Amino acid sequence: MIDPFCGRGTTNFAARLLGMPSMGMDSSPVAVALAKAKLASAKPGRLVASAKAILNAAKEPTSVPSGEFWRLAYHEHTLIQLCQLREALLGECSSSTRILLRAIILGALHGPRPKGRPSYFSNQSPRTFAPKPNYAVKFWTTRDMCPEDVDVLSIIKTRANRYLAETLPDVESKVELGDSRVADTFSDMPKARFVVTSPPYFGMRTYLPDQWLRLWFLGGPDYVEYSQPEGQLKHSSADCFAAEMGRVWKNVASCTTAGARLVIRYGGIHDRAVEPMDILKKSFVDSCWKIVTARAIPDSDCGRRQARQFQAEPKKAIAEHDVYCRRT
Ligand SMILES: C[S@@+](CC[C@H](N)C(=O)[O-])C[C@H]1O[C@@H](n2cnc3c(N)ncnc32)[C@H](O)[C@@H]1O
Repeated sequence: MIDPFCGRGTTNFAARLLGMPSMGMDSSPVAVALAKAKLASAKPGRLVASAKAILNAAKEPTSVPSGEFWRLAYHEHTLIQLCQLREALLGECSSSTRILLRAIILGALHGPRPKGRPSYFSNQSPRTFAPKPNYAVKFWTTRDMCPEDVDVLSIIKTRANRYLAETLPDVESKVELGDSRVADTFSDMPKARFVVTSPPYFGMRTYLPDQWLRLWFLGGPDYVEYSQPEGQLKHSSADCFAAEMGRVWKNVASCTTAGARLVIRYGGIHDRAVEPMDILKKSFVDSCWKIVTARAIPDSDCGRRQARQFQAEPKKAIAEHDVYCRRT
């Protein structure tokens, strides 16, 4: 199975549970770091020992971000420890233990402050996306919220015990950082029978700015980079976006078997007045994939939506579809 927009590796993880070899590609370093961890195995104790060893051996980090945002986001001591872990993992992160440790730290980097023991390293923040500095500083100062000196190792330990409690099958799989539009990206891979993916929704350009703190931990700048990154599909117009997606379908077809299936979950966002399914259909013009079935997935308004935590009456979710195609 191949996923050319694997994000955090949901489809690769599902393939792993089914014992199916898989390959994932994504152009976001955060997505790739998290997806790699979904395919790795290690005992929780080894992860904690690895983190402890890094902190015990570490000297003063070579660089520690400064400024009001950083002073309010993390306690001074926590920030030093995060920088020590960051520098060690930037130096070497090829073993399963380190891949999992890195993902656990990325997951704990920012989030809410619970009433009991802290489960994130940061001052009060959203969990899924990183707070923008100006907004966050205003939020924390008006509420007089200071960051706690959290026990970094204990947070890592609790998370490692939770996420690695079960032993999962080791299945041949890999995840790579790359641009799925680039010709031959998939050419030297074994032929797959299935492609299962969820491409970016048209207009949704914030994947990387929303992850700026996690990007920093992975070696990026200590500020938000708003310019559209090179490796992401271009959102300049619906036609351009469909053409870019079409390039990915063509590329991925080159490493599938005859009669292979492509399954896509697709939807849209509110600030674009374009029917998501029209974009998807356009992306298949002149392609060797033929749409066989499209099915609206059960209304996401029925389930739990994160939007409800912030807005009393969030807009109705745009219907998502599962689209099934066959290679001709
Ligand atoms: C809707 S998300 C995928 C969500 C994924 N199913 C998950 O569970 O996390 C779309 C992904 O496409 C990636 N992406 C955008 N343009 C890309 C490109 N040209 N090549 C590879 N990945 C790309 C984004 O970085 C993003 O992670």
